[in-house]
Amino acid sequence: MKAWILHDFGIKNLKLECVEKPSPKNGELLIKVGAASFNFRDKAIIDGFYEPHRIPKNLIPVSDAAGVVVAVGDGGSKFKIGDRVTTHLYSNWIDGSPKHNELDYCFGMPLPGGLAEYMIIHESAAVAVPDYLTDEEASTLPVAALTAWYALSDFGNIKSNDTVLVQGTGGVAMFAVQFASALGAKVIVTSSNDQNIRKAIKFGASMGINYRLNPAWEEIALELTEGKGVDLTIELAGGDGINQTAMATKVGGKIAQIGFLDGQVSQLHLMPIILRQLTIRGFAVAPRLAYEEMNKFLMVNKIHPVIDKIYSFDQVEDAYNHLTKGAFGKVVIKIS
Ligand SMILES: NC(=O)c1ccc[n+]([C@@H]2O[C@H](COP(=O)([O-])OP(=O)(O)OC[C@H]3O[C@@H](n4cnc5c(N)ncnc54)[C@H](OP(=O)(O)O)[C@@H]3O)[C@@H](O)[C@H]2O)c1
Repeated sequence: MKAWILHDFGIKNLKLECVEKPSPKNGELLIKVGAASFNFRDKAIIDGFYEPHRIPKNLIPVSDAAGVVVAVGDGGSKFKIGDRVTTHLYSNWIDGSPKHNELDYCFGMPLPGGLAEYMIIHESAAVAVPDYLTDEEASTLPVAALTAWYALSDFGNIKSNDTVLVQGTGGVAMFAVQFASALGAKVIVTSSNDQNIRKAIKFGASMGINYRLNPAWEEIALELTEGKGVDLTIELAGGDGINQTAMATKVGGKIAQIGFLDGQVSQLHLMPIILRQLTIRGFAVAPRLAYEEMNKFLMVNKIHPVIDKIYSFDQVEDAYNHLTKGAFGKVVIKIS
């Protein structure tokens, strides 16, 4: 089969090659991959700043893929040939608290990912695709959608009239905008440009703040919430901006620390956290049961993922460059 293989850090070292097609063992499914979608994690893995010591030789990268079951390993499965499924990033994390070794069982690193014509998914890590979604759309769900969903539902407990601040208009952000607005919340989106804000408003955001033109964006967030601050911030930027996020979040409010777009290190000012009595929780996607709950919500609300562009299988470098430049929603690669 054809697969993209990462030989060393850097996009130039990602090569399209012919490799042996895998065979499913007991409990495994062989998937003909229809589409894969890029996450910032995939870019960070390729560039060598995401757990570089864990990256195996000759990795097939990209965790998120959707496709059709074409073979089932011995012992059978709840899935049958012809079923459409996606990966679930933390393939061993089914429900409850994560175990100490979940990172050892992630697709796209260290397990082979979806930038290939075929891939193996253990049946316990496969999640049925909601029928109304194409493979291209479904490939965007495993990380970006699920992380946004888990932060809003499991942590934020977001309900009608709550206010959620979402940073940027990338993959996680646009799912957060769509989910939070479907839950009845008011959504403030921050973006580097006004055009993206206008587009985000079409997808459910109520208001936007241009953080390039307004470096003190937290002050505007306070003005927009009558001086109180938001109930929940979907923190995607990371770095020292966490201190602005703290100021934009209400007393007793919550910060879902998901991203590190601006850096993995920050100098945290403790007094605003203490005096505002904030709760900060780190996120590493979510367990599979939350994925199934999210899919029920998707089906009821018929939400379609926001896809900026779909690339072909031989345009992986272009897709990577698009993500590097900044995407509105998701960047997808059509494989078959
Ligand atoms: N912990 C987890 O489970 C988890 C899961 C998924 C993602 N993540 C992390 O979350 C972050 C976002 O992931 P993603 O896949 O959604 O990335 P993405 O699609 O590449 O998002 C990029 C967008 O974020 C916005 N952005 C960049 N810097 C920003 C800043 N300083 N403030 C506000 N917005 C900024 C930009 O939007 P504008 O051009 O509109 O400004 C940019 O287009 C990444 O750090 C990723 O690793 C973590």
